Amino acid sequence: MSEGKTTGAEEKSAGAEGKPAGATEFVWEAYRRTAYPGRPGAKPAETFSPLEAGSAEDLELPPPLSAGGPGLWDALRLRRSVRRYDGSQSLELGTLGQLLWAACGRSGDSPSGRILRTAPSAGARYPIELYPIVNRVKGLRQGIYHYKHAVHRLTPLAYGQLGGAAGAAAMEQDSCREAAAVIGLTAVFERTISRYEERALRYLFLDAGHVAGNLALAAAGLGLGSCMVGAFFDDQVNELFRANGQTEAVLYMVALGHPLARPEAG
Ligand SMILES: Cc1cc2nc3c(=O)[nH]c(=O)nc-3n(C[C@H](O)[C@H](O)[C@H](O)COP(=O)(O)O)c2cc1C
Repeated sequence: MSEGKTTGAEEKSAGAEGKPAGATEFVWEAYRRTAYPGRPGAKPAETFSPLEAGSAEDLELPPPLSAGGPGLWDALRLRRSVRRYDGSQSLELGTLGQLLWAACGRSGDSPSGRILRTAPSAGARYPIELYPIVNRVKGLRQGIYHYKHAVHRLTPLAYGQLGGAAGAAAMEQDSCREAAAVIGLTAVFERTISRYEERALRYLFLDAGHVAGNLALAAAGLGLGSCMVGAFFDDQVNELFRANGQTEAVLYMVALGHPLARPEAG
């Protein structure tokens, strides 16, 4: 797992009279009970070369535009689920960075030095981590990366053509195969459980929805298409995104790219 991702268990529980262990089990069991089991023996990737932790240098993303930009009303009106993408078009590196920033990037700092983010989060626990699978982004090798919101950088985790694996893990959805990038949204459960115990079950998924909503609107504003993907084989996507499925698991995926045809706009 990449740096700074398993700190949740060490976080102090606010008002934890109770049973953090029990709450953890409750959330995890609810997650498992609603999992799609997947196809036995399915391989996560045809070409997948994992990197040793720390072996590849972080990549700096161009600074995000944080003022001006596309109109919010236009983005709201134009957003549609796009399931077919133009394979001849790649995202600019800055565009991927802009999307990641819009999703849950650093939007400022509080007077006390706390990092402020573009998406709200219950209790400011920020359990959601972003992992872009890069199929077609200029200047980036195909593979999987982790977004470091605090410094707006990408950490490479593995190189390889993962579009096919993403499509297979998403129950053969071509949107994931064809997209220029597929962002995996994981949750580090304990970050939220340590404060909210069983109620964390609600907040984890609500937090993921806020981040995904930001991604969809940013994509629409940039003239790109997006598709939310909630139907997937859980074990397969966890393996693909290198989440252990216990303390961290994939809750959602968002496919992004240039639409093959103009989506029906309102
Ligand atoms: C939680 C959630 C999960 C979804 N999962 C999928 C999915 O796995 N595949 C897909 O093609 N669309 C998925 N969608 C997109 C919906 O089908 C789509 O939003 C809906 O049909 C309305 O169309 P619109 O987004 O174009 O307005 C999902 C949407 C949500 C909110």
